[in-house]
Amino acid sequence: MGSIADIRKDYKLKELQEADAHENAIVQFDRWWKEALNSEIDEVNAMTLATASADGVPAARIVLLKGFDARGFRFFSNYNSFKGMQLEENPRACLVLFWKVLERQVRITGLVEKLGEKESDEYFQSRPAGSRIGALASPQSEVIESSEWLIDRAAKLKEKYAHAEIPRPPYWGGYLVKPVSIEFWQGRPNRLHDRLLYTLGEDGKWGMERLAP
Ligand SMILES: Cc1cc2nc3c(=O)[nH]c(=O)nc-3n(C[C@H](O)[C@H](O)[C@H](O)COP(=O)(O)O)c2cc1C
Repeated sequence: MGSIADIRKDYKLKELQEADAHENAIVQFDRWWKEALNSEIDEVNAMTLATASADGVPAARIVLLKGFDARGFRFFSNYNSFKGMQLEENPRACLVLFWKVLERQVRITGLVEKLGEKESDEYFQSRPAGSRIGALASPQSEVIESSEWLIDRAAKLKEKYAHAEIPRPPYWGGYLVKPVSIEFWQGRPNRLHDRLLYTLGEDGKWGMERLAP
């Protein structure tokens, strides 16, 4: 069996040149997003969400990107979860997407706010019933006594809402990551990768710089 240290891959599919990159980072993200969608990537919207407590202790986990536009990037979660508590005391986050077949990585840093109730309601009600019950049943990130406890709790809620609309719990909803910087990484041969970093200026315009790989 080979050593972990010997696992490596050379990237050669594509390149990212300033001349081809859009001056607006969101438009550039939209271009890469559409290419990712067309590449039949499994869980194409899965992204790492990094947060930190006020005293700088980091935590990261995967969440699903559920929308983006000029305002920012949206995901949904439990506001009382560990990430929710970190975002409460330190409303900044970093998102990382990795699209392996395209040899691409995108890193977004930004300021986080909760989405409005209407947007959270709309998304919650668009989810399958099982997912809505799950959100209602699960005290995300809390210690629970067993898996049976959770399954039983979900079963009771399913029965309770058998003939009624499952309400969005007040502790569940969306977050908006308002980007301050977005880095696009394209793998290149011999580790000479392309990295373009966009930073949002005070005038609301995006600046772009090349970073060494
Ligand atoms: C593919 C994948 C998608 C996930 N999507 C979400 C999501 O959209 N929202 C969410 O709250 N948790 C999602 N999770 C679970 C989180 O990774 C995490 O376990 C949970 O949110 C609790 O994190 P926390 O304790 O840091 O708050 C997902 C996990 C995986 C593997």
